Amino acid sequence: MIELAFSILASDFAYLADEVAAAERGGGTIIHVDVMDGHFVPNITFGPPVVKALRAVTKLPMDCHLMIENPDAFIEDFAKAGAEMIGVHQEVCRHLHRTLQLIADHKVKPGVVINPATPVETLIEVLPMVHHVLVMSVNPGFGGQKFLPLAIDKIAHLAELRAEMGLNFRIEVDGGIAHDTVTSVVQAGADMLVAGSAIFASGDRAQTERNAREFLEIARAAASGLAGD
Ligand code: DX5
Ligand code: ZN
Repeated sequence: MIELAFSILASDFAYLADEVAAAERGGGTIIHVDVMDGHFVPNITFGPPVVKALRAVTKLPMDCHLMIENPDAFIEDFAKAGAEMIGVHQEVCRHLHRTLQLIADHKVKPGVVINPATPVETLIEVLPMVHHVLVMSVNPGFGGQKFLPLAIDKIAHLAELRAEMGLNFRIEVDGGIAHDTVTSVVQAGADMLVAGSAIFASGDRAQTERNAREFLEIARAAASGLAGD
């Protein structure tokens, strides 16, 4: 199933609940929460208190993308705040298997994230334990960057491995995904689509709702083309 995980990084934080509601009216089904610490990435965003505040005003699942050093120290806080999914970067996890197990122990769906320079092969041993693999299609840290086409082969490779290994993890893609790039990533096999600017950039909530609806129409058309092959 194709899903839009809208990234609130590009939304108007002063009206966060309203922004989320607009993207949900347009068909978005997952809130993508970009957590940045100013160390792993050169930017700072938000943490568990924002997840907790959103939990009180929406039923949508929250997918927390941790762009932070030492994620183990914060997993419990995000779980308690109400995260349904937590993704950690392969690049910061010295004991990736242990960290994914820790997420699962907190009854949260574990995910692993790879930067553009990190090969899919580094994940093979942990694929059976993840709910999702997130392929970054920009270098993490900022919204509004240009899509890196190298992500397409990585998504296709993951889709092959998923079939070969008999697994059912979701394939998520994040960065520069918009109405003009979404078709190629869906055709490669992505099914959890993160989009920030493409949904929220106008600052107009009626437009945000339309953006989400149109984005999903394009993505679902690409997926149904695959089914018809
Ligand atoms: C980048 C974040 C993304 C970002 C995507 O580090 O992980 O989730 O919000 O933004 P757009 O869709 O604008 O590229
Ligand atoms: Zn993200």
